[in-house]
Parts: sequence; C-alpha cells; structure tokens
Amino acid sequence: MRLDVFFGVQQLGTADVQGRVVAVIDVLRASTTIAVALANGAKAVVPFDSSEDVVNRAKQFERRDVKLAGERKMHAIPGFDLGNSPREFTADAVEGKTILFTTTNGTAALTAVQGARDVVVASYVNFSATLAMLRAAARGGTDVSIVCAGRDKQFSLEDSACAGRYARYIAQRLTGVTMNDAALACTMIDRRYGDNLTRLFNEASHGKALEEAGYADDLVLCGSVDAYPVLPVYSDRQITKLGPERER
Ligand code: MLT
Repeated sequence: MRLDVFFGVQQLGTADVQGRVVAVIDVLRASTTIAVALANGAKAVVPFDSSEDVVNRAKQFERRDVKLAGERKMHAIPGFDLGNSPREFTADAVEGKTILFTTTNGTAALTAVQGARDVVVASYVNFSATLAMLRAAARGGTDVSIVCAGRDKQFSLEDSACAGRYARYIAQRLTGVTMNDAALACTMIDRRYGDNLTRLFNEASHGKALEEAGYADDLVLCGSVDAYPVLPVYSDRQITKLGPERER
C-alpha cells in the first residue's frame, strides 16, 4: 500500500485522494480545534471557505442551535461567537451545537479533499484515536494520504512533523508500505523533535506568530498528545465524531 504525505492541497491530484483514506492536518490550530469541539460535545463541525458562507448557512438553523466560529489572521471574525482558539470550545460553549467554521488554511484544506473513501481530521490531541483508524486502513491494504494544510500555501513545519509521526506509526511492523519522499522527510522531522513539541512550536513560523498574537496557551493545548481522544470523520459535508454517540 502507499502512504503519501502532501504539503498542501495544491499538490493533490485526483489519484492521490480517490478511494484512499485521507487525513487532514492543521495542528495550529484548526484540526486541534475540531477535535476539542467534538470531544466537548459539539454535534458537528461544518467547514466553510468563507465567513459569508458561514453566515448564509446559519440562516438555515435556529440561532440557538449553532455557533459561528473561525479566524482570519489568527483572530476571531467580528460578529462570530467563537474564534479558532481551541480553549474557547468548552463544553459550556459547544455542547449540542453545530459549529459553522471557517479558517484560513484548515477548513479550506478539508473542503478541497473530494472523492476519498474516508476523510479524517488529525492532530496531536487525537493522535492515537486517529492512528488506530489509519493503521486499520493500511493493514487492510487501503492507500493512505496525509494532507498538511500548510500556511498560506507554504510548507508548515508543525503539520509536517505531525504527519511524520503518523507515517512512522502507521508503517510500524507493517510490510509492503511504500512512502513518497514527503512522507520520508516528515518522519525525519518528527524524529528530530520527538516529544519536544514545545521546541517544534517555538521554531515553527506559525507557532511564533501565535505566541506573538497572544495565543501561547493554545500552543500548550495543541501539543497535548491524546488529550482529546476522538476520531473526527468528514462525511456528507460535516465533521462528526465516530463512535456510539455519533450524531448525523
Ligand atoms: C488556519 O486554518 O489557517 C489556522 O488554523 C490558523 C490559526 O491558527 O488560527
């Protein structure tokens, strides 16, 4: 089976997605925020490319049933209920709600992935839960693509390190796994940082930007491996938590 990493959706061809299991990663912060929201009881997260799309879709809901959420330039969108800080997505804020969500890179990466067998949202905070699903797919011979959201169409160090950790563990003790060069490079990045995610985020440009913008506490949360053990699955244009309580 193939295990490929892509450093942005721009690199994806149809064959890289079609029939595969695809994991989308935006460690800082959209994929982390999605995992936290679902772990804290959000009914679903619906990704959109623009704030206008969020506002239009909200009109189809009772106002009390939805939260409008997202960021531009890291800060909450004016008039929205929540930004993109995972710390805002507490049970009090999101339980039972549908989150209509737009971010600069993360939600755009999700909406760009079309035709996959399954799409899951991966990060450090839900690492083992997502890994179990990806390993099961790989063991069954299904090709896996890991898509890094990146930052403004550029390579992102933290997404690549996280992708490398997934690639390393997916391939562990499995025979017949062929990785592309990006996946191999990501495993090297992951090995360089190991469990020192503080150092990873401190050296990554987006980590530095978040710290300067006042979101240093988000970096601590985003590096809390397995703190939110959910498997977010994107299907029928919404992301829900796979498991007994999955709502449709
Ligand atoms: C994004 O989707 O670009 C990010 O999650 C940005 C952010 O840190 O808010």
